[in-house]
Amino acid sequence: MLFRVAASATWLTFFTIATHASGQFSKHTAQFHFESDISDDQFENHYNEPGFELNLDDIRLVQFSLDEDAIWITERQKLHAKAMGKKYLDITDAPSNFGLLFEKPHFSYPPPNSSLVAPMLPLLSIEEMKINLEYFSSFRTRYYNSESGRASSEWLLQKIRNYTAELATPEQKALISVEPFYHKWKQASVIIRIAPNDSAGSDPITILGAHCDSINKENPFLPAPGADDDGSGTVTLLEAYRTLLKFKYIPTTPLEFHFYSAEEGGGLGSQDIVAAYEAEGKVVKGMQQYDMTAWVASGSEETVNIITNGVDAELTQFLTLLVDRYLDIPWVKETTPAGIGSDHLLWNRAGYQACHAFEGLVAYGNNDNIHTHRDRIDASHEFSFSHVHQFAKLAVAFAVELSS
Ligand SMILES: *[C@@H]1O[C@H](CO)[C@@H](O)[C@H](O)[C@H]1NC(C)=O
Ligand SMILES: *[C@@H]1O[C@H](CO)[C@@H](O)[C@H](O)[C@H]1NC(C)=O
Ligand SMILES: *[C@@H]1O[C@H](CO)[C@@H](O)[C@H](O)[C@H]1NC(C)=O
Repeated sequence: MLFRVAASATWLTFFTIATHASGQFSKHTAQFHFESDISDDQFENHYNEPGFELNLDDIRLVQFSLDEDAIWITERQKLHAKAMGKKYLDITDAPSNFGLLFEKPHFSYPPPNSSLVAPMLPLLSIEEMKINLEYFSSFRTRYYNSESGRASSEWLLQKIRNYTAELATPEQKALISVEPFYHKWKQASVIIRIAPNDSAGSDPITILGAHCDSINKENPFLPAPGADDDGSGTVTLLEAYRTLLKFKYIPTTPLEFHFYSAEEGGGLGSQDIVAAYEAEGKVVKGMQQYDMTAWVASGSEETVNIITNGVDAELTQFLTLLVDRYLDIPWVKETTPAGIGSDHLLWNRAGYQACHAFEGLVAYGNNDNIHTHRDRIDASHEFSFSHVHQFAKLAVAFAVELSS
């Protein structure tokens, strides 16, 4: 996630693109205006870092707010915008009928009351999350178009397959698939699916998502440990999955954990997956995104921030009930300052019901470290595994309440 904007000097670009390769978007003249100190060559590979496939002159169709038209800008300008804390979706490769293929059914959510969640929660391990996050944030960068980004999601895939091999019962194993989802770029997304034997393709799926990529906004070729953004969300879901295995949990409707690539590129990975799910006519009961779960700013109250824009209102209300019932800390609600958020937006945009809970009020988030080499576990005592633990409880609760 991105928040701050710093401005001083002026940087202006105008250009016109007549057609788009796939032809689905009309001619659009972009007048792109940033105010910043950043020079044009800031994002070059000055370090001759190997293993990247990044063309700064690529032309991309980007939307800066859900209320504004998309505009064509270069990859370099995308990075410039990122460095300034502007959020965006990159819709260059979205099908023109994205979200329009069929009317999505609407679900309502009775108050949580499963008898299974409470006995599962003590199985969650802070130590396990710590070990996993130490490893996951040790990749030089998890940038989606880098070799180390690719290696990081391959590690995640292996870790999940190892948990499954070691902990799943034969009955669970028969129901579980753990697969990479490949994209045009180097880093794959990863999808865990637990589907009951008798489940048809049309059964409503419960989805929990986090993003597995990271970025250094000063220059994408520089280190980006991404411990909080979004290593924290990734290990939160990994631990929820491990706990379901240990409990020998079998859902009655399909349950999936998604680890999206290229969220930092503008929701690219989740967009591919949402488009594929929609094309297959898949029905989603509810989707929750976990983007940053670790930071508790000094002097602030420890809370779960339930985001109120770009989300489904009923599912969001359901989240507050889960926090009330299962967590040891209160929720707060906030409308994020800019219109664009994380991967849940792509589900929401396609008409599926999605929601998002964040590590705290945006003003108290890990704003100074994310998207830099400083986003490390040891950045500060404010990086709290006990806070991540609260989110892991929420993940178990969300998964089980909706799929049992
Ligand atoms: C939970 O609520 C549903 C109706 O919303 C009811 O059918 C079910 O028996 C309840 N389960 C428990 C464990 O209370
Ligand atoms: C998975 O298990 C294999 C075999 O024990 C081991 O060699 C490998 O390092 C493990 N990978 C991860 C990511 O845990
Ligand atoms: C699923 O099907 C397999 C084989 O058809 C069977 O052995 C297993 O017990 C079934 N599991 C459940 C949860 O029904």
